[in-house]
Amino acid sequence: MQLVPVALGKRSYSIHIGSGLLKTLGEQASLLDLGRRCAVITDSRVGPLFASGVLKSLTKAGFCPSLIQVKAGEATKSLGSVEKCCNAMAKHRMERKSFVVALGGGVVGDLAGFAAACHLRGLQFIQIPTTLLAQVDSSVGGKTGVNLKAGKNLVGAFHQPRLVLCDIDTLKTLPDREFRAGLAEIIKYGVIQDRALFELLESQMQRILRRDKSLLTQIIARSCEIKADVVSQDETESGLRATLNFGHTIGHAIEAISGYGKYLHGEAISIGQVLAARLSEQCLGLPASDSMRIRQLFERTELPTSIRLNALQLKRLLEAMQLDKKVVGGQVKFVLARGIGRVEWGCAVPLDTVAQLMKSQGT
Ligand code: NAD
Ligand code: GLY
Repeated sequence: MQLVPVALGKRSYSIHIGSGLLKTLGEQASLLDLGRRCAVITDSRVGPLFASGVLKSLTKAGFCPSLIQVKAGEATKSLGSVEKCCNAMAKHRMERKSFVVALGGGVVGDLAGFAAACHLRGLQFIQIPTTLLAQVDSSVGGKTGVNLKAGKNLVGAFHQPRLVLCDIDTLKTLPDREFRAGLAEIIKYGVIQDRALFELLESQMQRILRRDKSLLTQIIARSCEIKADVVSQDETESGLRATLNFGHTIGHAIEAISGYGKYLHGEAISIGQVLAARLSEQCLGLPASDSMRIRQLFERTELPTSIRLNALQLKRLLEAMQLDKKVVGGQVKFVLARGIGRVEWGCAVPLDTVAQLMKSQGT
């Protein structure tokens, strides 16, 4: 088992990464000075797989858990679901010291974390991420929230968990496509901060795709370390945290114009990272050989690296990029790479340059 600390003063917490961790939940929660009542929020796919073990561990440690199950899928990240969870928690007579356990992927983590932030003006919560994406990204750092019709993640709160348990055994049942999508975020950590991680991924991708446990533990722990380090320096994203969005400006726009659901988030940011690398060649002098290595690593991971758009779709993509949360004073700001393991944020790139790049990759 590996332990990664997230240093945030009084709100510091640990990420536990390893095998067989679900059954340690009750014992770990007992160390956190929490009330007895708790709500385990999960979804309709994850609940049948793992909820009974989680409830058993909590009950054995003396807690009084109630299970709240929501429908699996992005559509569940809504204000309606927050209301449903809060009503169920009220019915379970949750009190100020009661806590929430988020058991599932990023959808459940974001929803349950936000419900915890709101209910009784703030309950403590524990993250048990069960997708690779959630284990290396969404469960760490305290961003919680839900979607509006107007856009993704538009309503939310920074609310840090008290504990994150990444049980790699839960990944056994994760569909291949979801698994590869999570790897896109791990590749991102290599590009933004860690050339050695990038090289490990280059040399070991076949074993990783076969879900080798020790390699998985190693790359999840390293990803969490990088994220924890960034978050502890810049919790509310006034600067450095933006580097976690490498590939996301174009990636989010691809998700938006394709209709959420066509591309998984990890697939959209794979294309986004390959394109951000090409922009980095032009704007920051990233060596073409590094840019090619980035593309080849995504190809080896069997993730998409390009997108064909007609003129209308290109126009919509450029418009969607201007709605990105990182737009400052109407200018789209990019995270770009100087080399593998070294990025800069706040780079203004003219939309014409992006349009030319999109056309040159086969629109
Ligand atoms: P998800 O939560 O929808 O999970 C993907 C699918 O896998 C779902 O159908 C789920 O039921 C199923 N699943 C989960 N664990 C499983 C398992 N172990 N075995 C079998 N099936 C399993 O998607 P995701 O990719 O985990 O998360 C995406 C969400 O995360 C998006 O809403 C995104 O906005 C959010 N996100 C948040 C942050 C953050 O910092 N808060 C960061 C990145 C992404
Ligand atoms: N997923 C980006 C962040 O947590 O800031």
